[in-house]
Amino acid sequence: MRILIADRFPEPQRDILAARGHTVRYEPGLAQGELPQGVEDAEVLVGRSTPVTGEAVAAGHALRAVVRAGSGINTIDAETAARLGVAVCNVPGRNADAVAELTLGLMLALDRRIPDATADLRQGRWRKSHYAAAGGLKGRTLGLVGLGAVGRAVAERAAPFGLALLGIERAERDPAVTARCRGLGMSFVPDLAALAERCDILSLHVPATSATTGLIDRQLLARVPPGAFIVNTSRGELVDTPALIEAMDHKDVRAALDVFDHEPEAGEADFEHPLARHPNVYGTHHIGASTEQAQQAIAEEVVAIVDDLVTGHARHCVNSPGTAVTDAPEPATR
Ligand code: MLT
Repeated sequence: MRILIADRFPEPQRDILAARGHTVRYEPGLAQGELPQGVEDAEVLVGRSTPVTGEAVAAGHALRAVVRAGSGINTIDAETAARLGVAVCNVPGRNADAVAELTLGLMLALDRRIPDATADLRQGRWRKSHYAAAGGLKGRTLGLVGLGAVGRAVAERAAPFGLALLGIERAERDPAVTARCRGLGMSFVPDLAALAERCDILSLHVPATSATTGLIDRQLLARVPPGAFIVNTSRGELVDTPALIEAMDHKDVRAALDVFDHEPEAGEADFEHPLARHPNVYGTHHIGASTEQAQQAIAEEVVAIVDDLVTGHARHCVNSPGTAVTDAPEPATR
């Protein structure tokens, strides 16, 4: 097959694809605007951060599948793809450990104010008394929004820290998942509002869909206790920016954010965002999935997806070509 890889992708897996007889065009620098032309006669488009618009999908006259080398599919116009008979496939779960590791790191950073302490040291300031006021994580309540692969991986790591785990009941959740979470000591509340009221740390692990956009809004933030931590390693769109700023300004809520709405598509770019500059925010650059281990695992799964496409099967297909996609699918385990 003719495969266009339009984002950074590990060389060993590119070599495997070529060794399988595919024609691999590697153009990691292709920007969103260049994609409609760049896609040319590709049958498979593999991407990560570069948005794949309906225009790009329509321009790919030979396109059979768009493969997201990651789990989220909000960068792809899956609805247009479905209408045009193009499968959109993602790689769920393979980044879970990496995202969970960053999530725990951000929680610890919030509690101990590690970035601020580092900045002070770099400026030649010794401030032991100032930074001696951490609350500690043990015994505090961690509310998890989403118990898919990432949410569960966070729970598994948070339990040994002595955090009390809280999830939201979902009738449609696989009972085996609920049982595993209960095994970690997790308790459940009926809804997000109840979760917000009871947790010291609220950590987000659901995809960005029309149902989750703006989930963390003014009403919800009114329910979290003063001084609560919000951790978002999922998607920036889940958080209503003005509402979070208000909560940080008026009730000392603090946030650790790996993701922002309107992130640059390029790996290096100027970035102005009111949350990124707020003193109550510790931020990273959407790097949750960016460990070598995770990228390797994702690339291996992309190869498996291409292998399946050769046989006519679209593994992890998140749209149904030929039918309109109404929304990005929720992980079955949420
Ligand atoms: C994902 O959706 O798997 C990650 O957010 C990937 C990324 O870094 O873009």
